[in-house]
Amino acid sequence: MTGIYFSGTGNTALCLSEFLKYCGGGELYSIEESAAVSAISRETELIFAYPIYYSSLPKIVRDFIDGNSALWNGKRIYVIATMAMFSGDGAGVSARLFGKYGAQIIGGLHLKMPDSIGDEKALKRSFEENRKTVEASLRKTEIAARRLSDGKPDREGLGFFSHLAGLFGQRLYFGWKTRGYRKAAKIDGEKCVGCGTCVELCPMKNLRIADGKAFAGEQCTLCYRCFCACPRGAVTILGNRVYDQNRPTRYFPKSGFSDKL
Ligand SMILES: Cc1cc2nc3c(=O)[nH]c(=O)nc-3n(C[C@H](O)[C@H](O)[C@H](O)COP(=O)(O)O)c2cc1C
Repeated sequence: MTGIYFSGTGNTALCLSEFLKYCGGGELYSIEESAAVSAISRETELIFAYPIYYSSLPKIVRDFIDGNSALWNGKRIYVIATMAMFSGDGAGVSARLFGKYGAQIIGGLHLKMPDSIGDEKALKRSFEENRKTVEASLRKTEIAARRLSDGKPDREGLGFFSHLAGLFGQRLYFGWKTRGYRKAAKIDGEKCVGCGTCVELCPMKNLRIADGKAFAGEQCTLCYRCFCACPRGAVTILGNRVYDQNRPTRYFPKSGFSDKL
């Protein structure tokens, strides 16, 4: 099986790579890699994973699915959605889109992980609580991968009631925030030292350095990678404060766990 994912701060990357391991291994590509498209073309069975934003798809993920609409016909796709607390139909939001493009959805899995919105007080947990959350999800991942291998995949987030929960629980009120790319990232010019880490890591190429400082454009997909990676805590996105206790996993398959992602 081939795993395809988007991960802002590492949670989804970690979950998918563990899942694949328990499924017996396979190739893993971020949608940011140009090789992802040819990998998808070669494979019939895929695992597709992403973080949930307001019970919706991150704009970058929606654009990838829509922008490659011809790729999905005839694919068998198992969807994994990671979230901090609640999504309702986290797996369902992409499943419906894949279905529209001719794919068959073979299962869905929801995994709770640390909250990646690190600049707002809501949902902040201690390191210890975050560690337990990750451990619990990785255990769940192992069980779900076995069920898939046994031909009895989970179907979380795919049913009618999940759809209603996602829609009325969040998407109706907040889903608009993921409809377009936004002018969201804010750089504190006092703290920024112009190291360029955010520029290097931004999946949207939405940041640049000018006169020794970082500047953000209007194409933010709200992934929080720049926030998470900034060594000076100079970036905020939706909130205004950097909560140190909230560092999501920062795991990426090709570099492993990293302080710099
Ligand atoms: C803009 C934004 C919106 C989010 N909305 C939700 C949400 O509606 N429900 C939830 O449980 N978690 C929500 N989260 C938390 C992420 O889904 C969660 O932390 C996810 O595991 C991050 O994955 P990543 O590290 O792969 O980017 C949101 C995060 C961001 C950045």
